[in-house]
Order: sequence, then C-alpha cells, then structure tokens
Amino acid sequence: MGTVEEIRRAQRAEGPATILAIGTANPLNCVHQTTYPDYYFRITNSEHMIQLKQKFKRICEKSMINKRYMHLTEDLLKQNPNMCAHAAPTLDARQEIAVAEVPKLGKSAIEKAIEEWGQPRAKITHLIFCTNNGIDMPGADFHLANLLGLQSTVNRYMMYQQGCYGGAGALRLAKDLAENNSGARVLVVCSEIMAMTFRGPSEAHLDHLMGQALVGDGAVAVIVGSDPVVGVERPLFKLIAAAQSFLLGSEDAINGQLREVGVIYDIKKTVPGFISENIEKCLERVFTPLGISDWNLNKVYMQQLWIHKYLTTTA
Ligand SMILES: CC(C)(COP(=O)(O)OP(=O)(O)OC[C@H]1O[C@@H](n2cnc3c(N)ncnc32)[C@H](O)[C@@H]1OP(=O)(O)O)[C@@H](O)C(=O)NCCC(=O)NCCS
Repeated sequence: MGTVEEIRRAQRAEGPATILAIGTANPLNCVHQTTYPDYYFRITNSEHMIQLKQKFKRICEKSMINKRYMHLTEDLLKQNPNMCAHAAPTLDARQEIAVAEVPKLGKSAIEKAIEEWGQPRAKITHLIFCTNNGIDMPGADFHLANLLGLQSTVNRYMMYQQGCYGGAGALRLAKDLAENNSGARVLVVCSEIMAMTFRGPSEAHLDHLMGQALVGDGAVAVIVGSDPVVGVERPLFKLIAAAQSFLLGSEDAINGQLREVGVIYDIKKTVPGFISENIEKCLERVFTPLGISDWNLNKVYMQQLWIHKYLTTTA
C-alpha cells in the first residue's frame, strides 16, 4: 500500500482542465428583437402603455441582441394568461413548464457536445447542472442523468439561482473536479427558459423591464477533462486559472426573487457602472500571476484569454 501522499498524487490529473467539446441548443420558436416590443406589449395586453413601450423599444434597440428564442410560444401564453400579467399568482403553472422543459433543452445541447467529443457517454464521471429555473426535488440533474442514460454512479452537482454568471461558476467547479480526479470527464450544462420570469410590464417597476428585454432561452453543454487521450480527444481550450470576486455594495444591483408570481428580476441601472469600474481589477488579479499585463495580446493567446475573461467576469 502507498503512502497517503502517493495515493493522493495518483488520484489527481497531471495537466490542466481542458474543454473537449461544446454544444448549444435553443427552442424552435424565435422572435426578432426588432419586432419584440410590438409582440411583447400585444401578448401582455399592454398596448395602452404607450410611453413604456417606447422605452422598451429603446432598451431593445440598445441591447445589441438580434433575436431571442422562447419556449413560451404565443399559444402557450394564451393558455396561461396570468403569466402575461405583471404579478399574478402563477408559480404552479410556471414550475410545471420549467421542471419538464429545462432538462430537455439541456439534453439537446449535451447530445451535440457528446457527438463532437465522439466518446461513449458511459465515460462521463461528473455532471454539473446549472439553471435559474424550476427548483425541485429530485433536481434537474437527476432528470437529465435519466434522460441521457448516464451511469448511476455519476457524481452530480446542482447549481440553482446563480443568475447570469452561473456558467462561469460551473466552469470553475468543473476545472477543480477535472484536475483533482484523474480520468474525470465532467459534463457541464446550463439551461434556461423564461418560464419563471416572463411577465407583463408595469409602469411602477421599470427595473423589471430589463429582464424582459435582455433574457431569452438557451442551453449550452461542455465536456471538461484533463489529460486528453492523444489522437482520440481534441481539446479546444485549456482552463489555466479561475477565480471569483464579489463586489462590495453590489447586493442590490441584481435581484431575482422567487414568489407566488414566479421569479421577479430586478436589474438596476447601477450594473454597468459596477462592471466597468471593477473589470480591470478582476482581470489583473487573474492575469498578473501568469505574467500577462496586456489582455489584448497577439492572436496566439486569444483563445486562452477568452476563457480567462469568461471565468473572471463575475459580479
Ligand atoms: C439596457 C442597456 C442595453 C441600455 O443601453 P444604454 O447604452 O445604457 O442606453 P441608455 O442609457 O440610453 O438606456 C436606454 C433606456 O433604458 C433605460 N434603462 C437603462 N438601464 C435600466 C434599468 N436597469 N432599468 C430600467 N431602465 C433602464 C434608460 O433609462 C433609458 O431610458 P430612456 O431612453 O427613457 O432615457 C444597457 O444599459 C445595458 O446593457 N445594461 C446592463 C444590463 C445588465 O444589467 N445585464 C446584466 C443582466 S444579469
């Protein structure tokens, strides 16, 4: 028998975590952002809020978003008219949709990632599922493992209610798991649909309008592992460093409150300021130990830098 140190060394991977495959998926129903204000105010019976609609149009125009995918089709919203009110008790109806659909959308993204990876799904040792929708027990990770036919021994991690930085947090966790468990192949999936958050506009709550303009439906899956099998697996990126910071005083900037009316997103005007004032410090914290002071470096580093930025842009 080896020493504890020898056993630990053998348990760990040699190299850094790498991203071995990426897959994405969206619902079929797509609405262009240019037509969204008309659609949104019509479907929510809010055409009479003329000034609010103009403001919403300006937000949509400046959002730099071209199109949004929505599981909530016009038919589905007509079947659930309370979801079109600003704040009607709708939790049961929303949960029913989210609990069923979030794992399914995640599955579509994963199937593309697994195809790109080209390996049997039995090799997946860990599953991280991240979503803001449909807290339930057993969770979306369990349903997904069943839908995919993963091994019953897969190590599952469920991350609920992380907000927009959930994907970065999931990658940070995947990196630690891959590097600390030799042979680990970590399937990471983030899947979101607006079933919990879609609601009509309110003149009394302008902050609630932002989530309606910016958030849409989609899923992404990545497979993360260290020490790729040469000639079999093709690493796309290396995850060299990962870190997280929270910003003092930012606790009221973005809120997502789960109530009888679903999840109410409240995105304050302070958010762009918090990000622009702090992003440089966050980047310095990650890049300085790596000896990189200019993150707009030459193209050789661009792929790795992108990952660094992605992992550190967390409020
Ligand atoms: C919304 C956004 C696209 C607007 O672009 P912009 O270049 O800042 O444009 P403006 O400052 O002219 O804002 C456009 C309108 O949106 C309003 N607005 C901006 N932020 C708002 C907020 N958080 N809540 C309500 N209204 C807001 C402005 O008051 C302005 O209204 P007006 O035209 O009646 O004056 C941009 O501010 C943005 O991306 N914000 C950050 C979004 C965010 O928080 N993302 C993280 C989500 S988790």
